[in-house]
Amino acid sequence: MERTCYINDLTIKDINKNVVLIGWVAKKRNLGSLIFIDIRDVSGTIQIVIRKNIPIPIIHNEYIIQVFGVVSKKKQPETQIEIVANKINIINSSEVTPFVVDDNANILEEIKLKYRYLDLRKPSSKKYIITRAKITKIIRNFLDKNHFLEIETPILTKSTPEGARDFLCPSRLHNGKFYALPQSPQIYKQLLMIAGFDRYYQIAKCFRDEDLRADRQPEFTQIDIETSFLTENKLLEIIEKLVAEIFKKVINFKIKLPLKKISYENAVNTYGSDKPDTRFDIKIKNISKFLKIFPNKIQNNDSIKCIIIDNFADKITNEENKFIQLQAKKFFLNEFLLFKVNKNKIENINEEHNYLNQELQQNDELKIKNNDLIIMTYGKNKNVCFGLGSLRTYFANKLNLIKKNTYDILWVNDFPLFEKNRNNEITSCHHPFTRPKDEDLQFLKTDILKIKAIAFDLVINGNEVGGGSLRIYDKDMQYKIFEILSLKKEEIENKFGFFIEALKYGTPPHGGIALGLERLTMILTNTNNIRNVIAFPKNLSGICTMSNSPSKISDQQLKELGIKINNTN
Ligand code: AMO
Repeated sequence: MERTCYINDLTIKDINKNVVLIGWVAKKRNLGSLIFIDIRDVSGTIQIVIRKNIPIPIIHNEYIIQVFGVVSKKKQPETQIEIVANKINIINSSEVTPFVVDDNANILEEIKLKYRYLDLRKPSSKKYIITRAKITKIIRNFLDKNHFLEIETPILTKSTPEGARDFLCPSRLHNGKFYALPQSPQIYKQLLMIAGFDRYYQIAKCFRDEDLRADRQPEFTQIDIETSFLTENKLLEIIEKLVAEIFKKVINFKIKLPLKKISYENAVNTYGSDKPDTRFDIKIKNISKFLKIFPNKIQNNDSIKCIIIDNFADKITNEENKFIQLQAKKFFLNEFLLFKVNKNKIENINEEHNYLNQELQQNDELKIKNNDLIIMTYGKNKNVCFGLGSLRTYFANKLNLIKKNTYDILWVNDFPLFEKNRNNEITSCHHPFTRPKDEDLQFLKTDILKIKAIAFDLVINGNEVGGGSLRIYDKDMQYKIFEILSLKKEEIENKFGFFIEALKYGTPPHGGIALGLERLTMILTNTNNIRNVIAFPKNLSGICTMSNSPSKISDQQLKELGIKINNTN
């Protein structure tokens, strides 16, 4: 059972060549004296012409056949080729598949995932997986050339603090004890720096038990990198070159280096996001000084900001108006106020009151024109900015303001080291191993929220593709950070004692980053569904509908693990 080449190896230059191909039957048309069959292999699809003068076995879709034939010019179009068969062998038959394996077939996602191996036969599905493989190959080559070593770290491990819940794995030998699957190799890669491997990488599997979204899976892959003795700029330079190489080799897109950098503060205040999409020009403006009257509902220290949608005031519909108000709640805001610029007047669309001063119109920076829509809100600065940021993206999509076929790649840096979560608790903005900026250490005792981190996110077209930082390499500082995060002494000892111990023995200054392989592949293959770029993904409820996992385990297994489950339904 052999073939001479893959389908896509053949070109018009191979006319008259004798070949043997193997493929799945994609399509069959019987024209009486001629039968046309399309077969596909991993590389592509080709038409086979079978004349009645050869024995023709019974063939149906998804049979695997071996074709002996001659490469010939197609009649229409002549630039293409087909194979005129002189012998066909059936390698295996197939039952009727649950759906037609065809790029144009409209198949429910549920069914596609249940029969993912059939879905993957489609050329469009293959394209994602093949591109992903190409990306990992480019990464390995690039990092190898730059003296990085690929080192694997454990999967059965201890909890790592990336902020999500752990997937746990009970130990049979140590009853009542659990391994955690790694949320990332963070601690291990730092330990590898202490061990003296000063340039590490791994195409690493990570596991996070968190709510799923279009760009999140419970099991995903990081291009995980760590280095010693490099400055922030030197490290970013290596990563930029790696990303540029991937873009060049995969989609022939030249990225201009060095990438631009936007501080976290600027990103939030100007674009209303810590992963700003700067492909369109709507920016958030502070308009507090243009408030004509100061209604009671606005508090003294509230931010008062707006976005301006060009020439849209007379186009806004009631539904859009309602949608905008619904967004307010999501961002803990009272409301969005909509104003229209009508000749020389600014009018409030939803109320009588006009809070805005006419001077707003003359302002050079705001550049307001007739019929512009002003969407204003007030409240806590972060809520105001994130709320307006979300509307900014909504209008950019709606009005087609986002330039196609271009890639907006940038670094967001100068993140705060800590932030307060919804319960008002101090948490790390990235993770607890992130190094604070030296010049901000003075705030450790006074105002920890003012401390900035040496941390950076790689953002492409408004997606967070990677995150990294320089790390703390001083054990006392590391201990202090855990204390600020309200970890008790025993907790620090239990969870991170081994790591603090390691930091004592000549730890090099180090730093690194992890890029999400799926997110990068999504961007390079132009899909917004993460499941497309994973061979066997989970659905949005974290279930693999094909293998039906997670699944129950046997009573015997439960007994061995000493686990009692109350509800066995
Ligand atoms: P972070 O948590 O930012 O950093 O993760 C790095 C990148 O991994 C991707 N990512 C995901 N992709 C798919 N599904 C998920 N559930 C998911 N979660 C994260 C994102 C993200 O930018 N240890 C640090 C890195 C470091 O400091 O070196 C870390 O894991 O693209």
